[in-house]
Amino acid sequence: MAILVTGGAGYIGSHTCVELLNAGYEIVVVDNLSNSCSESLRRVKELTGRDFEFYPINLLNRQDLESVFRQHRIEAVIHLAGLKAVGESVSLPLRYYHNNISGSIVLCELMQEYAVKKIVFSSSATVYGTSESVPISENVPLGATNAYGRTKLMIEEMMRDLHVSDAAWSIALLRYFNPIGAHSSGRLGENPNGIPNNLMPYITQVAVGELEELQIYGNDYSTLDGTGVRDYIHVVDLARGHLKALEKVMATSGVEAYNLGTGQGYSVLEMVSAFERVTGRSVPYKITARRPGDIGMCYSDPTKAERELGWVAQKGIDEMCLDSWRWQTYNPQGYGIFHYESQPVI
Ligand code: WQD
Repeated sequence: MAILVTGGAGYIGSHTCVELLNAGYEIVVVDNLSNSCSESLRRVKELTGRDFEFYPINLLNRQDLESVFRQHRIEAVIHLAGLKAVGESVSLPLRYYHNNISGSIVLCELMQEYAVKKIVFSSSATVYGTSESVPISENVPLGATNAYGRTKLMIEEMMRDLHVSDAAWSIALLRYFNPIGAHSSGRLGENPNGIPNNLMPYITQVAVGELEELQIYGNDYSTLDGTGVRDYIHVVDLARGHLKALEKVMATSGVEAYNLGTGQGYSVLEMVSAFERVTGRSVPYKITARRPGDIGMCYSDPTKAERELGWVAQKGIDEMCLDSWRWQTYNPQGYGIFHYESQPVI
């Protein structure tokens, strides 16, 4: 019996595959490689010494996806595949609704057909919208403010309806806060296309000289130093949260949402100074206007995941910065050009 990982070649997916394989699971990976590359999966095999099947297919291609269900005895699904750039979703909403929602519908229809009713779904803290009451717990009112967040919210609701229609479904909805960091080997990491939207890959590209300086989007929020506060979580902690959620859905039925965060917020300026402290690199920046759609404070109450999944984030901000920096220095072009033979520049 195998665990099907959709989007398994991506940033979260590749780290989750490492944890699954190291825990002894058999896995099968599908990924359309629209925002990832198969090199990450080659490295997953290298890091774990384990082999697995990978199908470069699109969830929207029902025939291709069905052939995977026919060729493998799938026990449960970890569903990570999806477009995830907030800004892009605002300018290309139909692409996001079609890819994320229709893809999830095709997946769930085939799961139903093949009597696979256990799924861990990659949701996001963006389903909380502009909730400024922090720390955010799972039962605050939901309300996304962009197309990307709305696709996550709608898929959550679709899965709840699935369970209402058939109580045999066992579903964990994992609401990610801000994943950063990389595998400690420096062989897996975040590999954004073009100029990074997110803070940490932008910081590492400034630190290595790829980009000139960091624009800090606003310092007039009602936070300690005026810059935005977020709940950064190490991607390996996040990956391990998927294994705990998988154990839960394998053992029970029902639908539950869980925050995957540390419960600790850090401002942009705190992230910059932590990064400079642990790497010895400087990160020149300038304060600019707020980014549309941003909120001031967002950090989690992760105690439900601790109570019900037995999961707590272990890695602190220093490790997140160091691992991000090692990934950057080992892989200046991401997966495009393989890492230099040199040691990390720390
Ligand atoms: C973090 C902080 C910015 C870049 C996003 C997605 C969300 C989720 C996590 C998928 C904010 C500031 C950033 C920069 C900056 N992804 N910043 N200069 O916006 O909290 O969440 O990633 O689920 O859906 O929206 O993350 O890293 O973009 O921003 O000042 O160049 O850093 O204003 O305060 P965000 P982020």
